[in-house]
Amino acid sequence: MPITREEAFTEAASKILDTNSFVRAVLSGRRRNMTVDFERIDIRLVEIKGVLHLQLMQNDGRATTTKNLLPSMVEVDQLLNSGYANIMVESTDEAYSIRVTKSGDAQVHTEKRQSEQNLSHDKKKERLLDSNDPFLREVGIADAKGVIKPSRQDKYKQVEEFLRLLSPALNAAIEAGQIHKPTKENPLRITDLGCGHAYLTFAAHQFLINSGIPVVVTGIDVRPDSRDRNNKIAEKLGITKTINFKAEEISKTTAETADIAIALHACDTATDDAIAWAVNGGSKLLLIAPCCHHDIQKQIDAAPEPWGAITKFGLMKERLGDLLTDSLRAQLLRLVGYRVEVIEFVGGEHTPRNLMIRAVKTDAKPEQIDIDRYCEITAQWGVKPALEKKLSTLNIR
Ligand SMILES: C[S@@+](CC[C@H](N)C(=O)[O-])C[C@H]1O[C@@H](n2cnc3c(N)ncnc32)[C@H](O)[C@@H]1O
Repeated sequence: MPITREEAFTEAASKILDTNSFVRAVLSGRRRNMTVDFERIDIRLVEIKGVLHLQLMQNDGRATTTKNLLPSMVEVDQLLNSGYANIMVESTDEAYSIRVTKSGDAQVHTEKRQSEQNLSHDKKKERLLDSNDPFLREVGIADAKGVIKPSRQDKYKQVEEFLRLLSPALNAAIEAGQIHKPTKENPLRITDLGCGHAYLTFAAHQFLINSGIPVVVTGIDVRPDSRDRNNKIAEKLGITKTINFKAEEISKTTAETADIAIALHACDTATDDAIAWAVNGGSKLLLIAPCCHHDIQKQIDAAPEPWGAITKFGLMKERLGDLLTDSLRAQLLRLVGYRVEVIEFVGGEHTPRNLMIRAVKTDAKPEQIDIDRYCEITAQWGVKPALEKKLSTLNIR
C-alpha cells in the first residue's frame, strides 16, 4: 500500500532511534527546489564510555565533520525533512530506503538483509586501494613488497581520494536512476581521458571490480608509448577483457561513449576536450580534475576595470585566469543540463591542482540568469573559452 512521505519519514526515524537494531543511515541527493547544508550525511551508532551515541558525519563535498550526540539530542525528524532525496536506513535485519521523487512523493523499498552493529567509536579512514594489489606494483606506485614508493605517495593519495568521490557519486546516480544498474551483460562504462601512465584508470577498474560492479574501462592518451605500456600491464594482470587503452587525441577519439568520464590533470585544453567528449556523448557523470590553464590566460589582454588592480600582478593574473577558466567550465556544464559542484578532491599538500569539477547529467533547462552570467563574464573579459566551441548542444547566443 503506498504511504505518504511523512509516514515514510516517521518509519525511518523510528528505525534510526531503535538502538537495539540501528546500524547506519545515509542521507544524500537533494530534493527538487530544496537546498541542503551537506552533500551527504552518514549516521551510525557508536558507544562512547559505555553510552550509546548517534555519530553524524556531515560531508560538504570538501570535508567531513563528525559529531557524536545522544540520540535524544538529535532532531531526526527535522534531519529527514531537511531536503534530502535519498534516505537509506540499515538495521540488523533490513535496509529501508526512501527516494523522494520530483513531485515530492516517497518511493519506499525494504530489502531483507543481515547486518551487524559495530559500535566502535574511532573509525579509521578505510583504505580503498590495497597497497598489495598487483596493479599498484605493475604501474610503479608500489614496490615488489607492496609498499607505496615514497616518490609515488602523492599520486597514490590523489588516485585514492579521486575514487573516494567517485564511489558515492556513482551510487547516488544509480539510486536516482541516472545511471543504469551495472550488470555483466550491461557493465558500467568508464573512460579516463588523458590517462598517461594510467594510475587512475587501473585503480578505478580494480576498485569497482573489487566492489562487485561490472565495469569496462578505457584509457585514452595521445602517446602511443603510454598505450603500449598500459596494454602490456593489462595483459600481465589478465584483465584485457575489461580494460583497454587507445593512443588517440581526445578530440578525435574512436572510443564509444561512456557512462562516466574521468580526467586527472589532462593538460590545458585537453581538459576541455575531455569535458566536450563526455557531454557530446551524453555521459551521465563527469569527474574532472583540471591541470594547467593557458587558454583563457592567453586571451586576457586588458582586464575590465577595476580588475586591473589584480591583473597587474603576474601571479594574481595567472590565478585569476585559472579561476575564470574553471568557473566558466562549470557554468557551461550547467548550461548544457548538468548539476555541477566544484570541490577539492585531495589536500593541497599532495598537488596544487586539487580542484575537481563534478557534474551529473540532469537535463535541466538552464536558468536565464545562468545564461546571462556566462555571456556577461565572457563579454566583459573579452574571452571565448575553448570549451564553448566544442559543445555541440550549447545554444545560448
Ligand atoms: C599530466 S599527465 C596526467 C596523466 C594521468 N591522468 C595522471 O594523472 O597521472 C597528462 C596526460 O594527458 C595527455 N594528453 C595531453 N593532451 C592530450 C590530448 N589532446 N589527447 C589525449 N591525451 C592528451 C598527455 O600525453 C599526458 O599523458
